[in-house]
Amino acid sequence: MTVDVWEALYTSRAMRRMEPDPVPLDVQARIMDAAVRAPSGGDSQPWRFLLVDDASVKAQLAAPYREAVALLWRGHYAGQVAAAEADPDSPSAQRFLKLRSSVQYLADHFEEVPLLLFAFSRGDRDGGSIFPAVWSAILAARAQGVGSALTNVLDIFRPDSTRAILGVPPDRGWRLNATVAMGYPKGRWGVAPRQPAHQVTFRNSWGTEPGFANDEPLWSPS
Ligand SMILES: Cc1cc2nc3c(=O)[nH]c(=O)nc-3n(C[C@H](O)[C@H](O)[C@H](O)COP(=O)(O)O)c2cc1C
Repeated sequence: MTVDVWEALYTSRAMRRMEPDPVPLDVQARIMDAAVRAPSGGDSQPWRFLLVDDASVKAQLAAPYREAVALLWRGHYAGQVAAAEADPDSPSAQRFLKLRSSVQYLADHFEEVPLLLFAFSRGDRDGGSIFPAVWSAILAARAQGVGSALTNVLDIFRPDSTRAILGVPPDRGWRLNATVAMGYPKGRWGVAPRQPAHQVTFRNSWGTEPGFANDEPLWSPS
């Protein structure tokens, strides 16, 4: 099964609830072969990727992942957690609580994720030379029916323990940029709701309308 590029672009959403089925090696090969076609500054290809499907390695990673997500709720999202708990029926609380439940589900089931893709880069100051490859991997996974969730809590809160578990050589400058959970999704693919493009796009000068306006996505499932 493959999907065309528009379908992949519009439906590559965070899919955190996954079936236990493994992702076959030939599917993984296509994901990585597509990922390394991505651009990087000066074609430096400053990356290493590490695929994890071993149950004992995943089990070791689950504790730091859960700790990292707990820190996320207590830190960055503390205000939203408090606001949602104070007024759980408001539309913004409903949206946040849905996101929190999905993020927490992945944390609670981290060791059950069939495949984890760790993306490392070196000398890539802002991640600009690694995230195109990460997103290409996500699109190539989607094209083959594999869902994914891009995460960075391990990078933010538990980089050292993650590197130690994965055997990343110390002092060589490898930075963990992203952890992508991959597997066949339990849920259905849908188009990601976003603020419409014309509300976040200008033409020629900041604040000037771009000349198009589409409140609804220009692609939808046929
Ligand atoms: C840089 C980055 C970091 C992210 N970190 C996490 C994370 O740590 N955990 C998680 O569950 N999702 C993470 N996400 C996924 C976002 O929450 C998700 O893309 C966003 O909520 C939109 O969801 P949707 O595509 O399903 O609409 C991250 C996404 C990006 C781009």
